[in-house]
Amino acid sequence: MGLFTKKPMQALLSEASDSEKGMKRTLSAGSLVALGIGAIIGAGLFVRTAAAAAQNAGPSVTLGFIVAAIGCALAGLCYAELSSSIPISGSAYTYTYATMGELLAWIIGWDLILEYAVGAATVGIAWSEYLNNLLVQVFHVKAIAYEWCHSPFEHSIPDAMGVVHTGIINLPALGIVTLLSLLLIKGTQESAFVNGLIVITKVSIVVLIIILGWGFVQSSNLEPYIPEPSIYTDNQGIEHNFGGILGVLGAAGVVFFAFIGFDAVSTAAQETKNPKTAMPIGILGSLAVCTVLYILFAHVLTGLAPVEFFRTDGREASVVAAINTYMPGYQWLGKLVTVAILAGFSSVILVMLLGQSRVFYSMSKDGLLPAAISELHPKFKTPYKANLIILILVGAFAAFVPGDIVGDMTSIGTLFAFILVCAAVIILRKTDPDLHRQFKTPLVPLVPILGIIVCAAMIFGLGWTNWLRLFAWLAIGLIIYFVYSKKKSHLKDK
Ligand code: ALA
Repeated sequence: MGLFTKKPMQALLSEASDSEKGMKRTLSAGSLVALGIGAIIGAGLFVRTAAAAAQNAGPSVTLGFIVAAIGCALAGLCYAELSSSIPISGSAYTYTYATMGELLAWIIGWDLILEYAVGAATVGIAWSEYLNNLLVQVFHVKAIAYEWCHSPFEHSIPDAMGVVHTGIINLPALGIVTLLSLLLIKGTQESAFVNGLIVITKVSIVVLIIILGWGFVQSSNLEPYIPEPSIYTDNQGIEHNFGGILGVLGAAGVVFFAFIGFDAVSTAAQETKNPKTAMPIGILGSLAVCTVLYILFAHVLTGLAPVEFFRTDGREASVVAAINTYMPGYQWLGKLVTVAILAGFSSVILVMLLGQSRVFYSMSKDGLLPAAISELHPKFKTPYKANLIILILVGAFAAFVPGDIVGDMTSIGTLFAFILVCAAVIILRKTDPDLHRQFKTPLVPLVPILGIIVCAAMIFGLGWTNWLRLFAWLAIGLIIYFVYSKKKSHLKDK
């Protein structure tokens, strides 16, 4: 027994085939692509794009999207190999357990909480931003007061009377994550169906904005394309590298959030029919569709409004704010987008909560988390206790932490996970060359190594405050591992 004990591949594979006692296998390759797109298009596009333009890169946020897409494609190829050879719940956590041992698996499992739970909180907060649009512009009622839809660390820009408001709690964000957690407990199949409808709406809206917005793009907003390097201090007092190469890398790290989710597909392996072929299709298919849409969308958004707009009036619910201000006659589009976004964000939160519960499920099955977490609901066959614990975690982040902070924590945590996934492919090729791989990552080790380099560059771009947050998070995780999980691990006697 030791820190580097690996979970035997046979044990993993027999767990995968033991689905009789486990979850129901209901998802096909098509529903996986839908699940992927459902998870992918969300707050990253509709909130973080404008934030990255404002804080990091101006119009060159499109270059940030390209860098992020390259990193994701490289890591995605690695994910696809692992998920097709280890078709079991748990995502990067499971792969790491089989290839790099228990300590690293714990680190990655703990790190994935940043991706899924903190990510779900980020989208919940973005949902809350757009809810006020719905109330005011669609239902013509009063907006929720700033205090009740922002965390205690946020301050408004001065209102008409010059008053600055400070948040208390983000109630709408808390409300939406609660509602969706309950839906998830009821069952994955129903959730996937609702998700399918939402995906269609979401993609249509993005396409509509690209086509209709194209005519309103002002070339003056796109110049200079890469702004001169400078430091931008936002109204919360946080400094950002703006412009130049660092700005592009920073923007890549921020908008990387928009791609998160294609890997969540791999956490649903145990509920997938024929996972060995369905997984790579689900992962790479959803990634490809989104990349094209994102680059076009970012071009239109930054062409509609100047950077200053996204720092002031367009700081929240930025896409609809830009449509309403810079696309005269298209108020209806603003309303439609608001409704679609609220539905679209819900599907993202749903998939992230699903991903998180599956990671907790796997960790608990291995003894690294308490056994109760992997108990399935007698009727719904879902890990409902995991869902409830996650609800408390996600709810706390959604209610009390600013969106920018949770967003960047999600990005950096996920980038770190991607690096380990890329490394896992190289290692598994060496340690288990005969493992049957339905899908093989091309050009190993070049592709995984490039994946590691591009993801590390984005981590670099996110800046030292985010590195510190990641280290602090991992330090807390290590304490829990050595105090609890190491002793309780099911592999300890082997
Ligand atoms: N990719 C997801 C989003 O942008 C997490 O909301």
